[in-house]
Amino acid sequence: MSKERTLSIIKPDAVAKNVIGQIYQRFEDSGLKIVAAKMKQLSQAEAEGFYAVHSERPFFGDLVSFMTSGPVMIQVLEGDDAITKNRDIMGATNPKEAAAGTIRADFAESIDANAVHGSDAPETAAQEIAYFFSSIELN
Ligand code: PPS
Repeated sequence: MSKERTLSIIKPDAVAKNVIGQIYQRFEDSGLKIVAAKMKQLSQAEAEGFYAVHSERPFFGDLVSFMTSGPVMIQVLEGDDAITKNRDIMGATNPKEAAAGTIRADFAESIDANAVHGSDAPETAAQEIAYFFSSIELN
């Protein structure tokens, strides 16, 4: 196991449901430490830039529209195998397919309003962390 960092976003649906604290508890219970965090209303340009890799996919417009529909909570999680661990506790992208007890099974409604985002690989984690946090905000 290696100590890693990953980017997590609590999406507008979960922020609106007032479950930030419950989701943070799951991060902490699984051994992930929150080492940086900010609440932010994403602009259209920020959301389009963050999801640029998906720009050709049919749902891109809906995804950007959803991610700018209200504030998001953005955090850097640190721990052993943080990327995989966070993806495991998030559950499958489609909450209908997410395992019982995962964040998406418990808090998400649909594939577009699916409560959380987590980086999927070390390279994307580094890019995504740098997208939202300057080096002075990270230690
Ligand atoms: S994943 O986890 O990246 O492999 O999932 P993927 O299926 O590639 O989806 C990438 C992101 O797009 C979101 N998504 C959608 N948004 C709106 N409508 C539809 N139909 C849809 N399908 C997928 C999905 O939640 C992923 O967002 P993030 O923030 O990366 O989890």
